[in-house]
Amino acid sequence: MLIGDRVQLRGIERADLPTFVRWMNDPAIRGLIARSSPLSMAEEERWFDALLKSTTDVVFAIQTGSPARMIGSCGLHKIDWKNRNCAVGIVIGADADRGHGLGTDAMACLLRHAFDDLGLYRVELEVFPDNAAALASYTRCGFVVEGTRRGAIFKKGAFKDLVLMSVLASARKPAPGKAKKRKA
Ligand SMILES: CC(C)(COP(=O)(O)OP(=O)(O)OC[C@H]1O[C@@H](n2cnc3c(N)ncnc32)[C@H](O)[C@@H]1OP(=O)(O)O)[C@@H](O)C(=O)NCCC(=O)NCCS
Repeated sequence: MLIGDRVQLRGIERADLPTFVRWMNDPAIRGLIARSSPLSMAEEERWFDALLKSTTDVVFAIQTGSPARMIGSCGLHKIDWKNRNCAVGIVIGADADRGHGLGTDAMACLLRHAFDDLGLYRVELEVFPDNAAALASYTRCGFVVEGTRRGAIFKKGAFKDLVLMSVLASARKPAPGKAKKRKA
């Protein structure tokens, strides 16, 4: 397991898939990610089967507490082993678990894995410009804005911009530090 201050990252299991499908079909999350279509269990099973064989994607469950409770997932995607870069994705599934520093802790943990264990140099992501919590969390983890992909995603009848952010192993910030509780 990958150990953060308050979260741990573990490998995902087939038994986790129904929870992932529920989160991905939550309109609150769907509004913040590029995907618009509902996700079926069959599609998720197919994704998981491909992931088991993939050499370019690793996905983890984010868990916290004792006994451990799964609160989200995160992963490294499209790993380019020659140029040593990848994309990253993260979701904290329930609104009640967001805004407590857990996503930032998980991302910091994931970046340590990418840089220190896998030897990657560059990690990038794309985020909608109005996703303030995500932008703040990523900035705290050392991501910097590279630019805007104008009108990159068609969603709810409109073309939406995507902000491209990246963090380099050579320009890492110190770890965000002990996550603080932000919600009552
Ligand atoms: C993005 C996400 C992973 C962040 O995880 P999290 O646990 O909620 O984030 P944290 O609590 O660690 O950090 C959130 C930061 O945003 C800030 N924030 C929260 N709401 C905010 C708002 N409305 N405006 C500005 N800042 C806000 C918090 O103060 C905190 O910043 P700080 O650490 O500098 O104080 C999580 O919110 C999530 O899964 N959201 C839904 C799915 C999603 O958006 N995924 C990413 C798609 S690119």
